Amino acid sequence: MTNTEQQNYRNAYHFSPQKNWMNDPNGMVYFNGEYHLFYQHHPFGTTWGPMHWGHAVSKDLVSWEELPIALAPDEHGTIFSGSAVVDWNNSSGFFDEGPGLVAIFTHHHDVPGAQQMIQYQSLAYSKDEGRTWTKYEGNPVLSHDSYVDFRDPKVFWHEPSSQWVMIVACGQTVCLYRSSNLKEWVFASEFGEGIGCHDGVWECPDLFPLAAEGSGVRWVMLVSIGDDPAYVEGSRTQYFIGDFDGTTFMPDERSKGEVRWLDYGRDNYAGVSWSDIPAADGRRLFIGWMSNWKYANLTPTDGWRGAMTLVRELKLETLEDEVTVTQQPVREWEAHRIGVLSLHGVAVEEAAARLAAVRLESCEILVRFDAAFSLGLKVRTGLGQETLVGWDAGSAEVYVDRSRSGQADFHKDFPGKHSASLKTSGSMLEMRIFVDRSSVELFADRGQAVITDLIYPDPASTGLTVFADDGRKVIESLHVYEFSSSGSQ
Ligand code: FRU
Repeated sequence: MTNTEQQNYRNAYHFSPQKNWMNDPNGMVYFNGEYHLFYQHHPFGTTWGPMHWGHAVSKDLVSWEELPIALAPDEHGTIFSGSAVVDWNNSSGFFDEGPGLVAIFTHHHDVPGAQQMIQYQSLAYSKDEGRTWTKYEGNPVLSHDSYVDFRDPKVFWHEPSSQWVMIVACGQTVCLYRSSNLKEWVFASEFGEGIGCHDGVWECPDLFPLAAEGSGVRWVMLVSIGDDPAYVEGSRTQYFIGDFDGTTFMPDERSKGEVRWLDYGRDNYAGVSWSDIPAADGRRLFIGWMSNWKYANLTPTDGWRGAMTLVRELKLETLEDEVTVTQQPVREWEAHRIGVLSLHGVAVEEAAARLAAVRLESCEILVRFDAAFSLGLKVRTGLGQETLVGWDAGSAEVYVDRSRSGQADFHKDFPGKHSASLKTSGSMLEMRIFVDRSSVELFADRGQAVITDLIYPDPASTGLTVFADDGRKVIESLHVYEFSSSGSQ
């Protein structure tokens, strides 16, 4: 781990591989007591290159052990994004006895001399809990004549119709396919024309059921959209809510009329959810790549590039009559907290005086206050640097402002302020802020709005303070935690 400690900006508790480039999370699946996380990885460089699947496992979603590369390029091409499932009943015929893991991924093949590429879907299977993988001899299993961009299959078992379903990105839409054995796929439907945001190529879709308080089970579709130079936001992830009958996704009225974003920061992309979480747990667990294609290859790290968000639990909650996807970091983090400061019923100016002694590169901050007044935290302050995370009562928005957060000149669109409007359900507002060496994640009002942003402050900029429009205003509570060292690297 000496290598880890020397790498600049490397996070204290967010996952990155030991060395080199990482982008999308892939193939997340739970099997025999382990959470698997695969990822787009270039093992020979710190910029995007021939894609492999890197691999890490965790028993608690907090600390991760990196394992050898799971999938490497072959005669069909490099290994793009995809998913993995437990084939409980050996529907694929890959397993002699008992269940095993099947990965469904995109093979990407550049056609020499042509301005064109070929993308098709392929399989690999593992009989030893993901430690080694065999590519299926019949690869690829699914190709398409019409789409140049045809990638990122997410497969799940649809219990009511007893079949596997694949959702896969097809240029500016997603296509759904069905299968009984993971090898033969039949087209079911297409979704996306005239709906949602089309500011970039559609990528990395997901489709899953979630129980909504008071309105039964709804289906949530995630669709990431790639970077287009015309849009300052770069790559980002939208979601739709609707119903799914095993063939067709039917969006609800609100999804038809409005684009909804999973995250209002710039750095949560290509995220999808875990497969095969046991019913007794029942959570829908999500992780995203904490970067943006606009500048992903330019960020000022060396030796490594690319980190994941914290693992988050997605829920459907009804806020002012609207069903909304909310996100919170998984509760497992709470067991790793080490209290640094805990204040109750103090004026903002007194809290700021207490925080003056605190120096932290990475921490969690939990603050509750009356939403009638504006309040913010300045994190990673020092050397003229600061990152603002706050609530503006006038505009009813939470925000992260990384205009002066440290190194920000590697791309013209990196500095800036990112906001999300909030429906304050009560008079008290809670902001939960996770700060690491090169990231900030804000979860506002029980995860109703989330802002994930990269930052690159000097390692010596470790100050923390709180401010408000009136320093005499009273904060209900303010907690600062560090995390015990068993956190991921
Ligand atoms: C999304 C993406 C995917 C593709 C992968 C390639 O970030 O562009 O669509 O499979 O990255 O690394």
